[in-house]
Amino acid sequence: MSLSNRHLLGLNGVPIEDIQLILDTATTFREVLERPIKKVPTLQGKTIVNLFFEDSTRTRISFELAQKRLSADTVNSTSSSSVKKGETFKDTVRNIEAMKVDMIIVRHKSAGVPQYLTRISKANIINAGDGLHEHPTQGLLDMYSIKERLGRLEGLNVCIVGDVAHSRVALSNIYGLKTMGAKVSVCAPATMIPMGIESLGVKIYTNIDEAIKRNDVLNILRIQLERNAGTRIPSLREYHNYFGITSERIEKNNKEILILHPGPINRGVEISSEVADGPYQVILDQVTNGVAVRMAVLYLLGTMH
Ligand code: NCD
Repeated sequence: MSLSNRHLLGLNGVPIEDIQLILDTATTFREVLERPIKKVPTLQGKTIVNLFFEDSTRTRISFELAQKRLSADTVNSTSSSSVKKGETFKDTVRNIEAMKVDMIIVRHKSAGVPQYLTRISKANIINAGDGLHEHPTQGLLDMYSIKERLGRLEGLNVCIVGDVAHSRVALSNIYGLKTMGAKVSVCAPATMIPMGIESLGVKIYTNIDEAIKRNDVLNILRIQLERNAGTRIPSLREYHNYFGITSERIEKNNKEILILHPGPINRGVEISSEVADGPYQVILDQVTNGVAVRMAVLYLLGTMH
């Protein structure tokens, strides 16, 4: 059993068999993470570079831990690189490649950078978030976490709530969940819903109570202030009043709901502290599962022939 593509650039167009294989493989690695010695020799001798040109805590540490737990040799590079000294991105990548690397994990503020890397490098490329485009491993770990709790993805109603317009997590969730047979919707102020999103087969809610009532899962997004999201809403307090997920709202509408959030969370904005620490959410399970899912992707790509 192997994946149909030697890169993971997004979940758009990834066949159901590939997603299934990654999620099943992640279950095996999830078990490894419970052992006292959380390490297997699977990627011994492989060299992986984490190229992060944009801020990241969770995703970068998660990839690095996943690589170490598979016994790969890993190197990290952040944006304080030669690009700042005037070297082109292409030359930087060629230099990294000349050091004989097998795999590159890339995060960049521009959409399409991972795709571009596949043309200038022979390494396997994994997208760790490109601009407003995709963040496939986040989509996969979200699906893994839903399945872990609810036992399936097919037929579930999943709503992505919040700053959909600036979110790469939203798109990867939409593509992945649709492939797995879930019914996907978004809920946000109209100014945060990208035009034409219905063409992806996504239902739109603009009333959060309605969305909570009609869904099994909410995946809550952060308001991306660094991407100027503040211009799309009157204030964060108003956003919280109309769209914030609070215990009161959940208890009034649907006590069975499962709450996900890719992090980082902004307490008191898109989610109240009570919900963020409460019984409906699986936010830290997502983080644990993220390591297992990334181990699965690294293993499946790293052992491909
Ligand atoms: C997300 C991202 O960077 O796209 N975070 C993450 O990787 N867990 C979402 C965000 O920054 O809000």
